[in-house]
Amino acid sequence: MADFDLVIRGGKIATASDTFHADIGIKDGKIAALANNLAKGTVELDAKGKIVAPGGIDAHCHLDQPMTDGTVMADGFESGTKSAAFGGTTTIIPFACQMRGHTLRDAVQDYHSRSDGEAYIDYAFHLIVSDISGSVANQELPALIDDGYTSFKIYMTYDDLKLDDREILEVLTTAREHGGMAMIHAENADCIEWLTEKLLQAGKTQPQYHWHSRPPIVEREATHRALSLAELVGVPVLIVHVSGEEAIKQIRDAQARGLQVYGETCPQYLFLTAEDLGIDDFHGAKCICSPPPRDESNQEAVWLGLETGVFQVFSSDHAPFSFDDPKGKLIRGEETPFPYIPNGIPGLETRLPLLFSEGVNKGRITLPQFVALTATSPAQIYGLYPRKGTVSIGADADLTIWDPNKEVTIRNENLHHNVDYTPYEGMDVKGWPTTTISRGEIIVQDGELLVQKGRGAFLRCERPKPAQPNQHMKSFVPGVNASSNFAEPRY
Ligand code: URP
Ligand code: ZN
Ligand code: ZN
Repeated sequence: MADFDLVIRGGKIATASDTFHADIGIKDGKIAALANNLAKGTVELDAKGKIVAPGGIDAHCHLDQPMTDGTVMADGFESGTKSAAFGGTTTIIPFACQMRGHTLRDAVQDYHSRSDGEAYIDYAFHLIVSDISGSVANQELPALIDDGYTSFKIYMTYDDLKLDDREILEVLTTAREHGGMAMIHAENADCIEWLTEKLLQAGKTQPQYHWHSRPPIVEREATHRALSLAELVGVPVLIVHVSGEEAIKQIRDAQARGLQVYGETCPQYLFLTAEDLGIDDFHGAKCICSPPPRDESNQEAVWLGLETGVFQVFSSDHAPFSFDDPKGKLIRGEETPFPYIPNGIPGLETRLPLLFSEGVNKGRITLPQFVALTATSPAQIYGLYPRKGTVSIGADADLTIWDPNKEVTIRNENLHHNVDYTPYEGMDVKGWPTTTISRGEIIVQDGELLVQKGRGAFLRCERPKPAQPNQHMKSFVPGVNASSNFAEPRY
């Protein structure tokens, strides 16, 4: 009998700290051995000339999320996790979104019914907190954190989701006391509303004006405010989908002052610009997301933020609305004014190849940085580490084998999501995942899907509990002792 179920031989293994050559022995879905000349496996994979990295963790994506405006997401858990797997991702964290007037529990139960039996890869849930009335902040949320839903998104914009500053303070206080991680969508709602009104009054309704309604200052102000609220409460916080220099400066300054602030960015801020919103009249709708893509100098700032460690997380923010679809970007027809065009672009499958090609292969970031940004740090921040996000003994054998020299032209017809376009159509990349392994099972190999839906498992997240929160984090909350050290490890 073979010693291992699967042995991956001779690859260059990449972790967030090192690269080294070794065989990987896998038993019962876990990494059981890392050494040269391992004994035989029932199945053997030759990885010579290839890179073996932890499977990607896409810690920000939207699948089958109920919407209040009549739009419908093109991807649910079946197509979304398939697409992710083809792109080298083995874990996703989408959002169980609380609808106003409903509880968080309702959202979680509903989201389980949408995901049960559908996924090809493992998944956890973030929550979206949109209504803190009743016992949401002080009872429901703590109970859900204990149940493994440890992170939640707070919106500072969007009428149906946003919280005001006072409400944000309440939710951040719960995060502080119960070890939750708050993710903040930072854009100033009133500024956006005011600018939008002016643009519409002037007849400026086309997709390109989406950018004009959400200039960088709107993001900068909200980022600064979000960080100030977190500082006031004394709680770690993560700013999601950061688009450029102005918001980056706020995050960098907070980090430099010793605050536990994390940043996330996404491919659209490296590879798209505001000009893409103006292409071919309505086709610019394909690139509408919030915050919007900026310009080349902001792209450079985002690259620098990745290189220098301002960002810990690189996610897709996959928000799948088809273009030629009356429930998607054409919700009000070909002339849909920009405020009604659903926000978001697809990217689950292209996230890793884009960063690998333009980041690692072009020498902007190292392979360990790539691994940290796309797998290890998200696992650590959201409480999935060390089960996920690394190559170490005892970890789940979630691995992606990369051919670093494979050249691919991105074509939507070759992707596996249900969205009818990719904003990266025609882009040439070098480096592509050839094999994706989830809990020791080869799920995608050389363009073939080898497993059935439903094998993906729900993951409970576990973040360190602040043992005595009042004594570990500086806080301005009355009655809370001030101390300058933070309780949890820094990533
Ligand atoms: O435009 C975006 N980013 N849409 C997805 C929803 C969100 O705010 O992340
Ligand atoms: Zn957002
Ligand atoms: Zn999002």
